[in-house]
Amino acid sequence: MGSLTVRQLDDKLKTLLRLRAARHGRSMEDEVRVILKGAAHEAGRDVLEHFEPAMQPAPQGARQADSKGILLIIGGGIAAYKSLDLIRRLQDRGARVRCILTPAAQHFITPLAAGALAGERAYTDLFDAQSEFDVGHIRLAREADLIVVAPATADLMAKMAGGHADDLAAAVLLATDRPILVAPAMNPRMWAAKSTQRNLAQLVADGVRVVGPNRGEMAERGESGVGRMAEPNEIVAAVEVILRKEGPLTGKRILVTSGPTHEPIDPVRFIANRSSGKQGQAIAAAAAAAGADVLLVSGPVDRPDPPGVTVVKVETARQMLEAVEKALPADVAIFAAAVADWRVDQPSGHKIKKQEGRPQQLGLVENPDILATVAHRKSGRPPLVIGFAAETDRVIVNAKAKLAKKGCDWILANDVSPETGIMGGDTNTIHLVTASGVESWPPQSKDDVARSLIGRIAAALAKAKR
Ligand code: CTP
Repeated sequence: MGSLTVRQLDDKLKTLLRLRAARHGRSMEDEVRVILKGAAHEAGRDVLEHFEPAMQPAPQGARQADSKGILLIIGGGIAAYKSLDLIRRLQDRGARVRCILTPAAQHFITPLAAGALAGERAYTDLFDAQSEFDVGHIRLAREADLIVVAPATADLMAKMAGGHADDLAAAVLLATDRPILVAPAMNPRMWAAKSTQRNLAQLVADGVRVVGPNRGEMAERGESGVGRMAEPNEIVAAVEVILRKEGPLTGKRILVTSGPTHEPIDPVRFIANRSSGKQGQAIAAAAAAAGADVLLVSGPVDRPDPPGVTVVKVETARQMLEAVEKALPADVAIFAAAVADWRVDQPSGHKIKKQEGRPQQLGLVENPDILATVAHRKSGRPPLVIGFAAETDRVIVNAKAKLAKKGCDWILANDVSPETGIMGGDTNTIHLVTASGVESWPPQSKDDVARSLIGRIAAALAKAKR
């Protein structure tokens, strides 16, 4: 049995299981294995010898000779129990895993459990003579191919953003020249706090990759929202993208905008459009698969983040512009977001009530044009700026006009009339409009459009280099 999925338990049982697993320093899956093993013991079954022993490192034979070294920094949060499962999953993919536990992490899991799974002692203390003698924090920082911080707590992210070095994890993160992937996990209010978002923006600007957090139930009773750590398989997918060998876009930084924007009218209503974010996400995923370092600035969508992509989530057009400007410089910027053209000039702080016989008048102001702002930058303009043109009639004529007006290099024009089913659908018909002409692509899936576009971009960058 490869893994056990713990779903469809009632909340009370799930909480009990989570607490029991955390107390024993095991993943929930391992805890279930141990419980089942105990039950089988009581039943006196001879099937016991076939049980996979809990908390054993993966057999050496499962590791590949050219395995990558991953330094897993485990922060102090209830999600730390998932990091034990993460060790196993990374090893299953052939990685060598070394662990550092922060002092707070040791309230949730033990160094013994992490060390037993990793097959090497877990490191905990900056001033521990033995570990400094064994490897030293500078070697820990440099020997890994990738550093993964999971769970990355608000405190750990603040330390990273501020350049602190007062414990082993922080010192290693400051001393490293290796790529860093963080998997944030915290209470939704802590995640939404201005200081956390400021630190996140700083980390992204510093080149740190981010996976999650996801929306869902928190460990605290009755709490839910954005703040759950990404699942171990999502973290592994992000690791694989970062460690993937050479691709045509390796070493390139690509910025993508995607999804709609929501412009508030009052606390419960907003102006938006029908964009699902599918096309932008597919482009971000295809760019990451081609080896690029991808930053996706996404408006609110109901879809999981694409693997191996750092996602900055925003609500409004103005927030999207701010996130895009912070993310520059980039080699390529692709604007696939369906930005709301207008916002309400004075959103109400309270819910607007109906007034008998008098329809509400909303004052609108135009939103900044994010694509045009970036494409017209005097300095720091990405060498290749690509926009979309969502049209319902005179598709090519309008797209050509948009290319000139927005100042971008390429426009991918598509007909978004309701009968085409493009908005929210899975396929797209694209006309690539550039200064040298128009090329019409056959109808294809949004994933295929993304791959074709990334192929085009790779060819254009290669040509520009020659
Ligand atoms: N765009 C943008 N910021 C805006 C509006 C649009 O970055 N405020 C970008 C979109 O991401 C897309 C391109 O501009 O790449 C064209 O978007 P589209 O909605 O087709 O055109 P608009 O500029 O909104 O013009 P119109 O609504 O008049 O067609």
